[in-house]
Amino acid sequence: MAEPKGRALAVVDLGAVERNCRLLKERAGERTELCAVVKANGYGHGAAACAAAALRGGATRLAVAAAAEVTELRMHFPDVPLFVMGALTEEELATALATEAHVSMWSEGFHELCSRLAGDRGRPARVHLKLDSGMGRLGQRDPDVLLELARGCGLDPHIEIAGVWTHFATADEPEDGFLAEQLQTFRPVAEAVREIAPECTVHAANSAATLREPASHFDMVRCGIAIYGLDPFHGDPADHGLEPALELQSYVADVKRFERGASAGYGRTWRAPEETWVGVLPIGYGDGVRRGLSNNAEVLVNGRRYPLVGTVSMDNLTIDLGPGTDVEPGAAAVLIGKQGSERVLAEEVAARLQTINYEVTCGISQRVPREFTE
Ligand SMILES: Cc1ncc(COP(=O)(O)O)c(C=O)c1O
Repeated sequence: MAEPKGRALAVVDLGAVERNCRLLKERAGERTELCAVVKANGYGHGAAACAAAALRGGATRLAVAAAAEVTELRMHFPDVPLFVMGALTEEELATALATEAHVSMWSEGFHELCSRLAGDRGRPARVHLKLDSGMGRLGQRDPDVLLELARGCGLDPHIEIAGVWTHFATADEPEDGFLAEQLQTFRPVAEAVREIAPECTVHAANSAATLREPASHFDMVRCGIAIYGLDPFHGDPADHGLEPALELQSYVADVKRFERGASAGYGRTWRAPEETWVGVLPIGYGDGVRRGLSNNAEVLVNGRRYPLVGTVSMDNLTIDLGPGTDVEPGAAAVLIGKQGSERVLAEEVAARLQTINYEVTCGISQRVPREFTE
């Protein structure tokens, strides 16, 4: 048997990221740029490595949420256009501008701040004016106020309007009509901003909108979840031709015989209903395997599914191998990914936790090394 690679390991297939990007770029169309969203350490997959794969797959820009993220990216990608989508304090804005990243703007106060910092640097700040067309989060709700802001920026030598944008609230719900309403709100505002700044990039679509609604593509799509091969619609990524890039691995560190009634883990939440064998995996919630999966997940070993039994602890969990098992200590275990013909999707784990695939992969902790393959 091959030596286990370690107690917990996330193996990320960069070839899959590249192919997913190629597919998304194709869906977006020739005249639409693909911006790869690699915030939160590339949704847990590793930001820089996935960004490089995305660029190979046809992405031409990278987006993150925070200034610290853009600083790290800039070290790896000196010439790629970077965009910080999130809110920025003065200090964070200074950090972002120092990387030449584009930033998001939706208020006059932020315009004044940008103008001052850009003036001090002697280089215009490139801003994307954000309309809150219905997400109810960051962005300017009032189209007239945003257009007034655009006119002010248009006259400001320290500001370059590089984009106008919005974000959808329900793109992942194909039956919902709200995306169309948001589009209707956004389109005239985008057109009016474009009259002020003809070169600016109009963008709105996330992964779900990119796959679902060509009218949302405009000049650029911002895709995150789908570039990692996760399904923006919470089903099977294969239905959209997407390949999951991440596999979460561990191994069976010990195999123990359990008498009927013997319990595994904190709180004795599981007891062997009959004599059985239990495998101990040295991975737990400290690695991002959520405690909510206690008695509520399946793990692959030797190409078969085994139920996770007992409470997930910080560093270990247990699985019921059944009576007369052929599983031996050292066997590879897969918590997310494929083994033989069996697979456990991040979407399955998410459904068990009543959450979304985004949270599952973002939750894989820093303690878990990322290993990159093609
Ligand atoms: C503003 C913004 N745009 C684009 C994205 C990418 O969305 P998705 O991962 O659904 O493609 C996100 C992610 O949450 C976002 O916050």
